[in-house]
Amino acid sequence: MIAICPGSFDPVTVGHMDIITRAAGIFDKVYVAVLHNPKKHPAFTEEERVNMLRTATAEMSNVEVETWDGLLIDYAAHKGAGVIVKGLRAVSDYEYEFQMALANRSLRPEIETVFLTTSSENMFLSSSVVKQIASFGGDISAFVPAELRDVIKERLMQQRSEMQNGKH
Ligand code: PNS
Repeated sequence: MIAICPGSFDPVTVGHMDIITRAAGIFDKVYVAVLHNPKKHPAFTEEERVNMLRTATAEMSNVEVETWDGLLIDYAAHKGAGVIVKGLRAVSDYEYEFQMALANRSLRPEIETVFLTTSSENMFLSSSVVKQIASFGGDISAFVPAELRDVIKERLMQQRSEMQNGKH
């Protein structure tokens, strides 16, 4: 069965990687889809986010990373996927995820949304937390894939100094 792991991945965290790795162990093929979340203003370009995910998933033979400029559920149908996989951290995620899962099911009932519970060590982790820590020069080593640590840190610190200098 084909599965989709969707998200904005701004940037990818070890929490995302945990979900992608586990999904790749359950399903035959996993498409990681970098999508537009209308509620968010990404710090990284779409191309940067895709490239980071491709680096982080390079060793996973049944995982591919793509973007889609439209509805998640249409992308899932386009790829012939039966399942959308999302990670669920805490009660705070639940309402939003439940709403999206129901909306997606009402559009295409044949595609299921399944939730994998986040590993306990990643309960607090989010892309926003990583962005805040990195932009203040903190250590993000434990929160992002090792091979992406420096590029993420440099990019976010640079963005912060540009903001301080009034370029944004
Ligand atoms: O990582 P995120 O930001 O929580 O992921 C949310 C995302 C990108 C999966 C969601 O916003 C999404 O599916 N965007 C594509 C547009 C869409 O299909 N929206 C859902 C309609 S309810």
